[in-house]
Amino acid sequence: MSDQTRYLLNESDLPKFWYNINADSPVPPTPVLHPGTLEPVTPDFLSVLFPMDLILQGISTERYIEIPEEVREIYKLYRPTPLIRARRLEKALGTPAHIYYKNESVSPAGSHKPNTAIAQAFYNKKAGVKALTTETGAGQWGSALALACKFFELELEVYMVKVSYNQKPYRRIFMETFNAKVYASPTDRTNYGRSVLAQDPNSLGSLGIAISEAVEVAATSNGAKKYSLGSVLGHVLLHQTVIGEEALKQMDLAGEYPDVVISCVGGGSNFAGIAYPFLRENLKNGKRTRLLAVEPTAAPSLTKGVYTFDYGDTAKMAPVVKMHTLGHDFVPPGIHAGGLRYHGMAPSICALFDAGHIEAVAVKQKTTFEAAIQFAQTEGIVPAPESAHAIRTAIDEALDAKAKGEKRVILFNLSGHGNFDMGAYESYLSGKLEDFEYPAAAVKEAMTKLPKVEIPA
Ligand SMILES: Cc1ncc(COP(=O)(O)O)c(C=O)c1O
Repeated sequence: MSDQTRYLLNESDLPKFWYNINADSPVPPTPVLHPGTLEPVTPDFLSVLFPMDLILQGISTERYIEIPEEVREIYKLYRPTPLIRARRLEKALGTPAHIYYKNESVSPAGSHKPNTAIAQAFYNKKAGVKALTTETGAGQWGSALALACKFFELELEVYMVKVSYNQKPYRRIFMETFNAKVYASPTDRTNYGRSVLAQDPNSLGSLGIAISEAVEVAATSNGAKKYSLGSVLGHVLLHQTVIGEEALKQMDLAGEYPDVVISCVGGGSNFAGIAYPFLRENLKNGKRTRLLAVEPTAAPSLTKGVYTFDYGDTAKMAPVVKMHTLGHDFVPPGIHAGGLRYHGMAPSICALFDAGHIEAVAVKQKTTFEAAIQFAQTEGIVPAPESAHAIRTAIDEALDAKAKGEKRVILFNLSGHGNFDMGAYESYLSGKLEDFEYPAAAVKEAMTKLPKVEIPA
């Protein structure tokens, strides 16, 4: 066997289509409900926030959706991304397993997020939109959308959770480099922000509040501004499938096929991006790859949440969907994987998990950073704290294979690098990080505040 480490595709191999799981999913989609009436939403309601092309992509059942040439042109700045065989990590673990990772950290923003940011900016521009609003927690999503908006000459307002705004000035400056206007949320620019500040002038904000501010600005702009979200929604998951489509070709170059595909889940977009093309092969071509989603024990929506209808945000402005939820008023513990702190999960992932097509596991924070350090010291990349959850589980799989004396082919998604997350690494290295398990009693209590949906759950 060769000792090749990097499996690279040519620019001409860049996928021409996104893969739409709706075409092959064995579980029917569940309805999306209006947060006020709890009746199914109409495209008209959603069109206040999103351009029609994106709304239609979310409900399309076409198997392959063509990637516009303008989007592919920008993808070419960093795609196809490399597939790497983690030989040095394998050696350190002494495992017979083969570990591969898809390196999405090579994008200009440092994560998988530009795969959808570029597409969303394109469709908004095409619809004549002049400006977008969004929220960002840790800053990865805001960074991706800032550069995408610059490429399509759209203005961008980013509502950045105040605690991150203060703690992560470099992410803010990154966004400002691309001319985005970044505000520390809660702000006095919106009714919702002002109401939060009236109650608590020192509020440090939350993702829920920032979403509500960004949505309010778009919804009250008389069509001048639209809102953009970086995960959870069907069109976002669709755009990320370029990851898995490339990985299929690259595993072929390596002459292997994964027994297990692993990825971290916040709202579910990088997991769906790498896993759905492999799920298609399971469903249609008799493959049997395990698809394993990894979440933090501090925000365990799949492993501890209840599968039911819930609001998408704290202020109950976003649609109600059926998902595994910890409750819409979930207050995330201050773990460092900022991108994994959402209370719910993409509905298609929840339905597939519920039906047994996807597995899920929750891992603790300290052991996750331990894996991140081992990965950095062997493979040379400091991973994003979110991606480190996938690394933890990939290492656990490799050690399990070693204990059983099995050759196992493991593929995981390195969703981003952690070069702006040195504060988190400093906490770990100085022994200040703590583990947190979200209590089952808190989930039970939150379930008393669910919307009263008549449709059978
Ligand atoms: C590097 C990285 N990985 C993963 C995630 C989680 O999001 P998703 O589940 O949509 O991929 C985020 C979100 O901010 C992120 O920044």
